[in-house]
Amino acid sequence: MLAVLFVFAVQTANAQAVNINASDASVRSPGGALTVSLRVNGEGRPEYSIHRGGKPVIHWSRLGFILADAPKLERNFEIARVDQKIIDETWEQPWGERRYVRNHCTELRATLREKTSPKRDLTVVFRVFEDGVGFRYEFPDQASLSQVHIVEELTEFDVAEAATAWWIPGGEWNRYEYLYQKTPLAEVSQAHTPLTLKTTSGVHIAVHEAALIDYAGMWLRRVSGQRMKAVLSPSSSGARVSRKAPFVTPWRTLQIASSAPGLYMSDLILNLNEPNKLGDVSWVKPFKYVGIWWGMHLGTQTWGSGPKHGATTVETRRYIDFAAKHGFRGVLVEGWNKGWDGDWFAKGDEFSFTEAYPDFDIVALAAYAKKKGVRLVGHHETAGNIAVYEKQLGPALDLYAKLGIDSVKTGYVADAGGVQALGADGRIHFEWHDGQVQARHHMRVVEEAAKRRIAVNPHEPIKDTGLRRTYPNWVSREGARGMEYNAWGDPPNPPEHEPNLVFTRMLAGPMDFTPGVLSLTGAGGKRIQTTITKQLALYVVLYSPIQMAADLPENYAKYAKPFQFIKDVPVDWSDTRVLNGEVGDYVTIARKARNSDDWYLGSITDEQSRTLSASLNFLDEGRRYYATIYRDGKNASFDGDGHSIEIETRPVSRNDTLQLKLAPGGGQAIRISTNPASTGVRSAPKPSPKKKPPEFDVE
Ligand code: NOJ
Ligand code: CA
Repeated sequence: MLAVLFVFAVQTANAQAVNINASDASVRSPGGALTVSLRVNGEGRPEYSIHRGGKPVIHWSRLGFILADAPKLERNFEIARVDQKIIDETWEQPWGERRYVRNHCTELRATLREKTSPKRDLTVVFRVFEDGVGFRYEFPDQASLSQVHIVEELTEFDVAEAATAWWIPGGEWNRYEYLYQKTPLAEVSQAHTPLTLKTTSGVHIAVHEAALIDYAGMWLRRVSGQRMKAVLSPSSSGARVSRKAPFVTPWRTLQIASSAPGLYMSDLILNLNEPNKLGDVSWVKPFKYVGIWWGMHLGTQTWGSGPKHGATTVETRRYIDFAAKHGFRGVLVEGWNKGWDGDWFAKGDEFSFTEAYPDFDIVALAAYAKKKGVRLVGHHETAGNIAVYEKQLGPALDLYAKLGIDSVKTGYVADAGGVQALGADGRIHFEWHDGQVQARHHMRVVEEAAKRRIAVNPHEPIKDTGLRRTYPNWVSREGARGMEYNAWGDPPNPPEHEPNLVFTRMLAGPMDFTPGVLSLTGAGGKRIQTTITKQLALYVVLYSPIQMAADLPENYAKYAKPFQFIKDVPVDWSDTRVLNGEVGDYVTIARKARNSDDWYLGSITDEQSRTLSASLNFLDEGRRYYATIYRDGKNASFDGDGHSIEIETRPVSRNDTLQLKLAPGGGQAIRISTNPASTGVRSAPKPSPKKKPPEFDVE
């Protein structure tokens, strides 16, 4: 993997100061689609607005702060200086949805200065892209404001046109693990980001943030009408953010597009993050994994010791053998370490991250795995007790490094506000999963892991804000309802959950959803609301550079043919195209493998059956490909026969348009390969050179 920052062109010309001492300024995106305006109103309060094609998207909305021990920073300002520049560069991702990313925007940097004492400066920087806007505050180091304690950020987003919102509640006990609600924006209370909106004229907007470092996560509270206000996640110390100047806040982001696919195609969040800080990251390997996991969620195995203990040496060997046989690089083992007995939830004081249960021989298993070309995937469940975890972090990661374990899944199972952290006063303080203390904690783990060449995948995490660009060993995370809710969730995930995720949670970045439960069965025999083809399609649709095959090996043995798709599908891509989609309804995504010329296509629907068109015009001109199609069988549905599947291999070319028939709650997964023999399903018929291949599924 290449780790270099690959800059084709950087234009930072035109860095000229304009509008000194003016009360307003504006800036357009390079192609002119979006305009951002900044003004100070009659009271000297700073406000911004956004227009798209001349029409308002965001009405005048406030900027500023309330501080704990200094006068608030929000009125009596003038614009003291404005600079503008164009940024146009293309950089390479070490892994990702696409290999090259273009960062093309206009930047406006405005220094706001208080007109009267204490005459403090506050800088606002806008980056205006064709597909959205990011802005952040910069606190310069100044005598009158050096130690900053932020009680409230006053940033607002007053959405101009009536909109529908897809959202989960912010500040509730279950963190990000809620089902998405679809309501008028005017009925949202307090939401997490990304908050996805569709206006009556069809403009799609996602409000989120980028580069959340040493700051509190942002929720959005509706003030009135469609005016949303930033609410910073709480802190035990009163002020929600405490920083020493100079520092910058995270970017507040608005992705703005004509369609739901347009939102997903935007690279704005990554572009607003800093380039890779880790240097050579060729050691960060995208991979697929299996593991001792689903059995615990089904209740047939336990994390703790006893007769049902999952993480035994014998059971782990079985998984290692299975992984080696079927080409999975990773084997996750949960419940391997001491501390799981009794009530660990939100306590975590018993966890040891260096001592294994006696029936788990970690040294021998790591060696056995290595011999078989497989790696154990580490597991650190903290139950939100970061005081205990941080104390052991160095030795815990050293142990993994010594054993060749180069990735770790971490976990913070505790209710919101229940993270236990050691304060400067030597006492335990209760913090939020997305507060400043936890933002710092995640960075500490990621940096310590990077020193030892270990990749990190937190569950019950802080939200994703694109930091994988800066720290490419932060490969994935949970941060939404994943597959586990289909084992024990009440209610379980409905069929619309994944089409919701793609255009909400997934706009933030990769998710360790853990798809691939081909048995379609949760705890107690409960039917999972999906079809088997939808489980396959999720590998393409829900992006993550690490993907679990979450089911038990014995279930994969039962469904060997569909399992072939899980074995074939890559997890690293050179290109991604969203072919169609509507938030919460359906989506079709095509991705090109990073290490071959193959393409993979995944299409999923909610509870409605649909026939979707997918043009293959992304394929190379004049080249013959073979499509292995995994489609819902006749009468398949999420609440009926979910295992009904048709698999066929046929020749295709870029001139073809596929008609994808999706059952209620179903999906379709397609491998499009230049190599007919490698599908493992059956070899394709020899194409007749003269005859154009027929369109699929047209009746
Ligand atoms: C919650 C995680 O999401 C799940 O994957 C894990 O098995 C449990 N915590 C235990 O760590
Ligand atoms: Ca979870």
